[in-house]
Amino acid sequence: MTPTTKLPDFVRENVPMSHLTTFGIGGPARYLAEPKNRRELTQALELAAKLGVRVKPLGGGSNLLAADSGVDAMVLRLAAGGEFSEIIRGNGRDALWRVGAAVPLSSLVAAAARAGVAGLEGLAGIPGSVGGAAKMNCGSAGGCIGEFIAEVETVYVSGAFRTLRPPELRFLYRGSTLTGIAVNVAFHFREEGSPEQLLRDCRENRARKKVAQPLGFPSAGCVFKNPPGGSAGALLDMAGCKEMTEGGAMVSAIHANFIINQGGATARQVAVLAGRMREAVRLSAGIELEPEIDMWGDEPAFAQLKSD
Ligand code: EPU
Repeated sequence: MTPTTKLPDFVRENVPMSHLTTFGIGGPARYLAEPKNRRELTQALELAAKLGVRVKPLGGGSNLLAADSGVDAMVLRLAAGGEFSEIIRGNGRDALWRVGAAVPLSSLVAAAARAGVAGLEGLAGIPGSVGGAAKMNCGSAGGCIGEFIAEVETVYVSGAFRTLRPPELRFLYRGSTLTGIAVNVAFHFREEGSPEQLLRDCRENRARKKVAQPLGFPSAGCVFKNPPGGSAGALLDMAGCKEMTEGGAMVSAIHANFIINQGGATARQVAVLAGRMREAVRLSAGIELEPEIDMWGDEPAFAQLKSD
């Protein structure tokens, strides 16, 4: 930073990524910007340009592994409690719901069920923000969030806002064609249901996840995408990966596609362990697993995992 650049109160320097990710791992983000509204968001983007740093949008930090050396960028997390945290419910059967990208996915799932609109119950128990969920098209066996998204408003580092719609906006398995930083997501829900039943379905889905996944431990969810027609978890299990360790990182004994931080795990250890898991499946099944988690920062073990 040049000595003359004064940071606004919603931008902090050297914030540990371990505080910003569900893994609890990662060195400092050079800057963390948490804008509460469009004006601050624009200001943050201008500041990043002035400082000559890249902008990395962060949602709930639940699908992310940050390097031990940190992230040399402005990490941009839309503030909770601000303009991007609102849920504006649609009035009537076909009306769109307009949801801020910073809203926790769990809050939207609960609000939809309470309002008697069906579709999102299968996403109960998935962590993260609505913006992050849209970007990676999170989902469960019951379906993916993209099925319910009509449009996404995004902002680019240039400061330009745009609304993306199909066919430009497409949702893929654990991915999308969404560009820029999502700020608002519009949902269309076509089916109705009884709130009691929908809330019960949410509770059951959460309970099912609790049994099948190690939700009590810091992790970033599934490490690898499912290969076409198969299950990465089942393949990793058959390859004998459960309880493999690398320092403080361990493959869960409950679900072989989760790495948990047992305490003090480093990003390097997680990436090395993920590399060993992938190698085990390559040898036992001849299948190349592809990482699902995002990896930020300079870490040779990340580069290897991304390129192999
Ligand atoms: N299985 C095993 N051993 C394991 C894990 C799974 O044999 O260690 C078997 C299960 O018994 C089941 C099959 O593999 O027959 C599939 O397992 P599961 O139902 O747990 O689903 P998954 O395909 O492993 C997907 C998503 C999860 C999502 C669940 C629940 C991916 C990569 N994973 O897991 O998403 O929560 O379905 O619907 O698509 C995530 O994306 O981070 C994530 C956790």
